Amino acid sequence: MTDTKKSEHGAWSSRIAFILAATGSAVGLGNIWKFPYITGENGGGAFVIVYIFCVLLIGIPIMIAETMLGRRSQRNPVETMDLLTEEAGADKNWHYLGWMGVIAGLIILSYYSVIAGWASAYVLKAFTGSFFDADGVAIKKIFDDFVASPMQLIFWHSLFMVTTMLIVVRGINKGLEKAVQFLMPTLFVLLLLLVAYAMTTKSYNQGLYFLFVPDFSKLTSDSVLSAMGHAFFTLSLGMGAIMVYGSYLPKNISIAKTAILIAGADTVVALLASIAIFPIVFANNLEADSGPGLIFQTLPVAFGTMTGGWLMGILFFVMLTTAALTSSISLIEPAVAWLVESKGFSRQKACVWSGLTVWLLGLGTAFSFNSWSEVKFFDRSIFQLLDYLTANLMLPIGGFCIAIFAGWIMKQQHSEEELDMPNAESYQLWKILISYVAPAAVFFVFLHVIGVL
Ligand code: TRP
Repeated sequence: MTDTKKSEHGAWSSRIAFILAATGSAVGLGNIWKFPYITGENGGGAFVIVYIFCVLLIGIPIMIAETMLGRRSQRNPVETMDLLTEEAGADKNWHYLGWMGVIAGLIILSYYSVIAGWASAYVLKAFTGSFFDADGVAIKKIFDDFVASPMQLIFWHSLFMVTTMLIVVRGINKGLEKAVQFLMPTLFVLLLLLVAYAMTTKSYNQGLYFLFVPDFSKLTSDSVLSAMGHAFFTLSLGMGAIMVYGSYLPKNISIAKTAILIAGADTVVALLASIAIFPIVFANNLEADSGPGLIFQTLPVAFGTMTGGWLMGILFFVMLTTAALTSSISLIEPAVAWLVESKGFSRQKACVWSGLTVWLLGLGTAFSFNSWSEVKFFDRSIFQLLDYLTANLMLPIGGFCIAIFAGWIMKQQHSEEELDMPNAESYQLWKILISYVAPAAVFFVFLHVIGVL
């Protein structure tokens, strides 16, 4: 269907291009910055296990569903929902699902960009040798001084947003594919080297123990919600990012296999990052639950003492910034695609407006680490509030609706046709996961959090 639209909407040059772009979207600050610090805040092993279950039972099925919806309509998320609702003869209100995704993407990018700014600032710090021979205390001070300065945070946030918009304005094919192609292997090798360093610290076993030996008494209903929310966040699900990428996907490609591959790679990166970080945390008497600053207070200790640490530090933060860039693009692409395809904006104009909105909103996060650190809503700083609102609420709600749509609203014949699974059993398995398991899991976690269960 809608082949006429396809030419103006663009398409990936190949399956591998889609895999690279979707992996680029999935692997980002979520894996290397967020996963370790929320694992630290939620007590380690038990949290990791819940998270892995969420990826398997909720994340992968929804990733398949989201890609499928996008590819079927070949439109932006807002129009995708309109078109597929019409095809299924369903209620017009599904429209708002596409909308919520566009908004969630803009909000996430507003704080994502501030943190990505930290990563880029750390490239410079690594380059000028700030970490050289510094111990845990000195490294923590470098971080604390840095985030105490609103001007610095705003400068790096602005730089990151401008770079993101310059890439987005050029469209999907150019640049993005190439960036990811070289980024992923390098990032992977760097993480392995960091794990090797962690093995040399006296606390390697303690780190592994913390990560992989579960203590379920540390698990609260809020940590289960965080683990589930993070499964959506790290796989870029629930807001239409993967839907947009799916819409550029040629028809002859197996969606299910591709989704499993991407989720697997994403999880491996998050685990490697954590295996590298926690031994350093314990070896230097740092706190596992020190929050968003965790990687910035630990990894530089390694860079400051290991051989070749100067170069590794620079490379690592360059990679982290680049990984954040390939994710940030996917956070804003739904908004841009919608402005261009539905509102008749030129791509330039769409980029300027959406970029400015995100930049402005990001100031709230930049100030929440210093001048406005006392400003609290429901006991949360602006950054924590935006993060909770999006990752823990909007994405799971979006994902729940996507699951219901794909499992119950869309005609079985259509999903079967679009997924084109190798055998009937795989299709049935997906159908059960998407119709029952994933929505019920999200629903029960929510009931638990609001105290009904
Ligand atoms: N998955 C990315 C990360 O782990 C962040 C991200 C990119 C994202 N696009 C998204 C999160 C869409 C939610 C929705 O860093």
